[in-house]
Amino acid sequence: MPPARSTIVRGIEQVRERRKGMELRIQQLSKHFKDKKAVDEVSFTLTAGVWGLLGANGAGKTTLMRMIADLTAPTSGAVFYDGIEIRKMGETYRNLFGYLPQDFGYSRDFTVKDYLEYMAALKDVPIKETAGRIERLLELLTLSEVRGEKIAKLSGGMRRRVGIAQAMLNEPKVLVMDEPTAGLDPGERVRFRNLISEFSHDRIVLISTHIVSDVEYIASRNAIMKAGRIVDIGTTQELVRQIEGKVWEGAVSVEDLTEYEKRLRVVSRRDEGHGLVFIRYLSEKPELPKSATVPPRLEDLYLWLFPQTVLEKEGN
Ligand SMILES: Nc1ncnc2c1ncn2[C@@H]1O[C@H](COP(=O)(O)OP(=O)(O)OP(=O)(O)O)[C@@H](O)[C@H]1O
Ligand SMILES: [Mg+2]
Repeated sequence: MPPARSTIVRGIEQVRERRKGMELRIQQLSKHFKDKKAVDEVSFTLTAGVWGLLGANGAGKTTLMRMIADLTAPTSGAVFYDGIEIRKMGETYRNLFGYLPQDFGYSRDFTVKDYLEYMAALKDVPIKETAGRIERLLELLTLSEVRGEKIAKLSGGMRRRVGIAQAMLNEPKVLVMDEPTAGLDPGERVRFRNLISEFSHDRIVLISTHIVSDVEYIASRNAIMKAGRIVDIGTTQELVRQIEGKVWEGAVSVEDLTEYEKRLRVVSRRDEGHGLVFIRYLSEKPELPKSATVPPRLEDLYLWLFPQTVLEKEGN
């Protein structure tokens, strides 16, 4: 017999309640290394869903994440999980938290499966559930075939996926991943996005990346970090509003392309054949005879805010 309607309604309400209650509040968080302000008075509140953390090299993303992971003590400020300071939660926080470090240190002599079993034990995953969870993650991250291989022998992308698996083993309420897609091929990237979208329903997931399209598809909110500060925060739509009317597309001849690339802030180019190249560029006003404005994307904003960046694209 199907469950009564009242039972379903109660179930939905419970999920809503759980989502509503969960938050990670970052309050005036700073980290100084001598006179370097790696993270400078950062305040924002993460709620359930996927959050992208975007910023150029050295912006302070890893330092911020390490404080959220309670691996580095802040110089000042604090992080609160549902109102309780994480530094005071100790083990309780670690059991509901998952972390993929940027420089994921793994035990090279372990096989993939032994390593995950070891990590499951460290994270207090119930013994009865360990084997099932490992199998499921191996499958979702296409690692089943290499489960018996030593980690040292795996490719970089595979090791990264082992790192993702260990971060998710304890089904954390808060999952923080520092550049999880670095080194993944396009197929694995898509699988990763699907995995995270499904996983994030009643959890907080924070992902840093240089590949803007990774978060454009799955993040409900993005925080943009520059020189230790969060300079902007919001949905992709909210964020790109500031460059509305500043993103253009137009055609140039192949011969003129180099000259235009020197002069304009080109986001992308597309060879149209017949000696023509379509370029997408950022500017306050049109710079080519037949330019038209196009709807801005997160990638455009990123280049607008970080002009020195050469965009890393999917599949590179
Ligand atoms: N242990 C440390 N000692 C001294 N300076 C540090 C330390 N860790 C980070 N920094 C400095 O703090 C700043 C922020 O570094 P961080 O690694 O957080 O940036 P990031 O945004 O993660 O960069 P990337 O995109 O390259 O990973 C940098 O200027 C860095 O040199
Ligand atoms: Mg980093």
